[in-house]
Amino acid sequence: ETLPRDLVGAIQNLKKELNAVILAHYYQEAAIQDIADYLGDSLGLSQQAASTDADVIVFAGVHFMAETAKILNPHKLVLLPDLEAGCSLADSCPPREFTEFKQRHPDHLVISYINCTAEIKALSDIICTSSNAVKIVQQLPEDQKIIFAPDRNLGRYVMEQTGRQMVLWQGSCIVHETFSERRLLELKAKYPQAEIIAHPECGEAILRHADFIGSTTALLNYSNKSQGKEFIVGTEPGIIHQMEKLSPSKQFIPLPNNSNCDCNECPYMRLNTLEKLYWAMKRRSPEITLPEDTMAAALKPIQRMLAMS
Ligand code: 13P
Ligand code: SF4
Repeated sequence: ETLPRDLVGAIQNLKKELNAVILAHYYQEAAIQDIADYLGDSLGLSQQAASTDADVIVFAGVHFMAETAKILNPHKLVLLPDLEAGCSLADSCPPREFTEFKQRHPDHLVISYINCTAEIKALSDIICTSSNAVKIVQQLPEDQKIIFAPDRNLGRYVMEQTGRQMVLWQGSCIVHETFSERRLLELKAKYPQAEIIAHPECGEAILRHADFIGSTTALLNYSNKSQGKEFIVGTEPGIIHQMEKLSPSKQFIPLPNNSNCDCNECPYMRLNTLEKLYWAMKRRSPEITLPEDTMAAALKPIQRMLAMS
């Protein structure tokens, strides 16, 4: 079978045929962003997944995001264009090691960043995203002992913002942790008026320079509302497509990483393509499947997050 010439039209037809909704993250290629029914950050995507009345969820994002949609909709078909679209943060936190880690810190509440596997969610008390992590920690009693997993950078940022101590799992995002401070300083010299906006998954050295820190949606909104004309963007550059759409007269400069190329795309997110999305809808595969007990256990901390957001 060959790809239809009008790929976008074919996807629109399949969407009607399947009664499907296409949920996409900002780190997807522009062509996917442009056909999505909903585009958002991890919290927005979870909220959409929780409230959709579509029969099929086509998830253009990474595996843990599609898993979250499945956990919220165990009886729906959840399609992911490429099952290999994983996440370095989720990979950094294997369930067996995490169980041992929890045992070494008894009477701690476990808050897990949504960038983790369903098994880790099932071992957690509350899930959070980059847009609600500070707010959730602030709602807990002052003397509550907390384990925060798996992102040490978001964890450290939340500790700074809340003044709380937390035990951090030492995971990180390969995209955000490799941004180069040296190249950031070079860009700052070249664009002295530019505002630096960054995601809390970035390392401390980058966040120290940031004028604004937030989730992808927060960064997008900030760049739209700010009076600034130039922005150095410290997150995956896929989001620049939306930034340029919302603010066509502004300039967005992607922050390079510390390799010698100018690349900084998430290799997992970019495994999804418009072509694979079409085939997934056409073949109703690959789909996300999870054991029922894992889904039931993982649902509780996700629901707690939705209630606390
Ligand atoms: P948010 O879109 O929730 O800010 O998450 C960023 C990210 O790295 C997703 O993998
Ligand atoms: Fe995971 Fe980082 Fe890619 Fe997001 S950008 S999916 S956190 S590896």
